[in-house]
Amino acid sequence: MKSILIWDLPLRLFHWLFAASFVGAWLTAESDAWLSLHIFLGYLMLGLIGFRLVWGLAGSRYARFSTFLYGPRAGLAYLRQAITGSAARHLGHNPAGSQAVFLLLGLGLLVGLSGLFVQGGEEQHGAAAGLFGYAVGQAIKQGHEILASLMLLVVFGHLAGVALESWLHRENLARSMLTGRKQAESATPAARPHFLVAGLLLIAVAGFAAWWFHYRIADSGIAFVGKKLPASALWQEECGSCHQAFHPSLLPARSWRSLMAQQDRHFGDDLGLDAATLAELLAYAVPNAAEQGATEAAWKINRSVPANATPLRITETPYWLKKHREIAAADWKNPKVKSKANCTACHLDAEAGAYEDAAMRIPR
Ligand code: HEC
Ligand code: HEC
Repeated sequence: MKSILIWDLPLRLFHWLFAASFVGAWLTAESDAWLSLHIFLGYLMLGLIGFRLVWGLAGSRYARFSTFLYGPRAGLAYLRQAITGSAARHLGHNPAGSQAVFLLLGLGLLVGLSGLFVQGGEEQHGAAAGLFGYAVGQAIKQGHEILASLMLLVVFGHLAGVALESWLHRENLARSMLTGRKQAESATPAARPHFLVAGLLLIAVAGFAAWWFHYRIADSGIAFVGKKLPASALWQEECGSCHQAFHPSLLPARSWRSLMAQQDRHFGDDLGLDAATLAELLAYAVPNAAEQGATEAAWKINRSVPANATPLRITETPYWLKKHREIAAADWKNPKVKSKANCTACHLDAEAGAYEDAAMRIPR
């Protein structure tokens, strides 16, 4: 028996980076403050899976999928033998361990891709920006969380398997994933990786994550990079002369109907609109109202308004009040702000209706 290289260096780097990206993403999932790091880790994980797929075909002996292509039935049979203590020792992945490898790669891929769609829908950032609105993003987020929890379960299963197997065959499997070496008969062929290929692949992975992080997320300027919300020249003209034209996504459809019905008493003004113009304005406002949930603001405003209420002011909806409760009186009196309804003073993307976090600043 002698110590033989089983896990090549690129594979070990993959293993620990993949584990770290999952743990890191799990820990940064809850808070908005860590969102960019969370997203970076997601891209890193996707890149690493890409690397692993190539390495499963072109890597060294024990990294290749062909050396551990076992079905679930073989995996279960092996697990039964392991529990009764009769399982044979494998130098590479054993039939149960291989199930964990395939499940973690598959789930990692689904978690990463669904995360991309959550980011696109909820934040209108990244590769999937503009494909759909906030409501769809929220729905996908539920799936994203379920998949991530499943992945955590598989991770626990994997850890239990490693512990059982280490105990059964009296060898430290976690350490051999660090050193790459296992005790084996001296005639056993060692792993022989193509380091140049592996190095280039790993650099590509890290570069992929860094590139997306830097250019697509951190530096994207005004946040709403996705598909523009529908606009209307008539709305802009009739409703944008006394104050900015509030985007229809900021109030429910019944509020716009009510505002149009009393346009001759519009907060002390008579708008003097004829029936044809009113109909055309409503034809734009109603299908783009808050119920559509095209943005986070639309979704949350709509949810905050009780079903039996018809607010005529955005600034009286519970969500708006909650979000602006902590702004100091001095900031409201600032001549650059003057009115609560002067959204553009603090929201750079107010005209477009987006109200993204990144486009917000109080003038001082
Ligand atoms: C002649 C001027 C004038 C025009 C034109 C006008 N508005 Fe107004 N609007 C006002 C005034 C004045 C207020 C009250 C502003 C305040 O309290 O700060 C107001 C307030 C509002 C508010 C409530 C803002 C809040 O506090 O949340 C909405 C919504 C609104 N207007 C929609 C419209 C729409 C839709 C149109 C186009 C059909 C329109 N306005 C056209 C004068 C106008
Ligand atoms: C004096 C500056 C100011 C004005 C004027 C203002 N806002 Fe805000 N708004 C803020 C600040 C600051 C926040 C962030 C509050 C927080 O996150 O706790 C905010 C948050 C929001 C949010 C939540 C964004 C999110 O997703 O977290 C929405 C939606 C919003 N504002 C809409 C409006 C609308 C619509 C108007 C005009 C009717 C308006 N705001 C006027 C300063 C302002």
